[in-house]
Amino acid sequence: MQRENFGSQFGAIMAMTGSAVGLGNLWRFPYMVGVYGGAAFVLVYVIVVFLLCLPILNSEMIAGRRSQTNAFGAFKVLAPGTKWKWVGALMIFTPLVVLSYYSVIGGWSLEYLYKSVCFDFTSVAHTRQELDSIFGNFISSVWTPLIWHTVFLGVTALIVVLGVKKGIETFGKIMMPLLFLLVILIAVRAATLPGAGEGFAYLFKPDFSRITPAVCAAALGQGFFSLSVGFGIMLTYASYMNRKDSIGKSSVLIAVSDTMFALIASCAIMPAVFAFGLSPEAGPSLLFEVLPFIFSQMPLGGVVAILFFVALLVAALTSSVSILEVGVAYLVEEKHLSRKFAALIIFLGTWLVGILCSLSFGPLSDMRIFGDILFDFLDRFTSNILMTLGALLIVIFVGWKMNRDDVRNEFTNGGTLKGSGKLFGPMYLVIRYLAPIAILVIMFSNIFAS
Ligand code: PHE
Repeated sequence: MQRENFGSQFGAIMAMTGSAVGLGNLWRFPYMVGVYGGAAFVLVYVIVVFLLCLPILNSEMIAGRRSQTNAFGAFKVLAPGTKWKWVGALMIFTPLVVLSYYSVIGGWSLEYLYKSVCFDFTSVAHTRQELDSIFGNFISSVWTPLIWHTVFLGVTALIVVLGVKKGIETFGKIMMPLLFLLVILIAVRAATLPGAGEGFAYLFKPDFSRITPAVCAAALGQGFFSLSVGFGIMLTYASYMNRKDSIGKSSVLIAVSDTMFALIASCAIMPAVFAFGLSPEAGPSLLFEVLPFIFSQMPLGGVVAILFFVALLVAALTSSVSILEVGVAYLVEEKHLSRKFAALIIFLGTWLVGILCSLSFGPLSDMRIFGDILFDFLDRFTSNILMTLGALLIVIFVGWKMNRDDVRNEFTNGGTLKGSGKLFGPMYLVIRYLAPIAILVIMFSNIFAS
């Protein structure tokens, strides 16, 4: 059977950027910056993304396009008869766990979009405490978050059923540039608030004494989460890429746009946090608790709120679509199920786990795993352990198991790409030595420091 390909390099890059840019940039990055000390985290993050995550992204794309198959099949094709296929299994499993709790936050964005459309935040003046309790009551209730979780996951499954070209590519092509403009618009508005300067200093003037092993580990985990690497997602997408496209160029564009999104999102949030004298350390609730307060204090805040939550939702959907796609590609190509049936099975599995995650903020909050509620446990477990392990195994696979010439051919398109040819040497060194060592050092120093 002929596999579908992306129609153009632009389409492939847009779809991969769509996967990378999501709640990780708009919701997770700004709150991690706040928790891990502002500019010090931003600085380490940027270094880690370009020095480590980018070569790892290249490794995934090389393995994906070389094998022309899904994350599970890729390891069977490239290293037949070996235990590497279990890495493929990890690559299928990890994203599905992520999807189950990701769609809960996707559901929160839907609720906040709904509230914005009703002008809930701006029609009456709410105090900060009231907004906190609106959020607290919402996430701890049973039905509303579950309904939104179901809607979010259902829409994701529908988009995937429509297929690679029609569904993902069209969606990505139209939505990503629009999203970029929206976030810039909000950032410009935030920058013109009185007192915004302090927020910029917080973001861009590093206090070097705050760079600790914990900050490095958090930045690394955030880099994997944000670029969608270590999951087999970029591997699967790259398998749909055209043979003539440049892996190196595409990956740089993806990393640059993902980082820009994260930085601009922080420029939209932090200056506003400081302008209103709020705490940047609010944690995961930062976006949902602080922003509505800020919107309510802004001229035209009602409209800005709607735009922001639309943007957040689009970003979340293009990412969740990519996660579901990995599982579907696996079930279709390895188990020969139809796309529809595969999407349905994954929908049901992640929906059920997602229900438990959502309830862990309310009725199930006493159910603790290593002291965490289920949601926090799954988030921590996937970002600190499964993703890091996935990324480590991928670079070891491409750096040590795959044949060097094959890797070079895939990266340089058989030597026809001159720029990639020059870059190959240093990048291969990073993949083979620096990346695995750095990942291990960061992991262990964090474990021993804490
Ligand atoms: N990278 C996406 C984001 O930043 C999230 C994601 C995680 C997507 C894991 C795929 C896999 O929101």
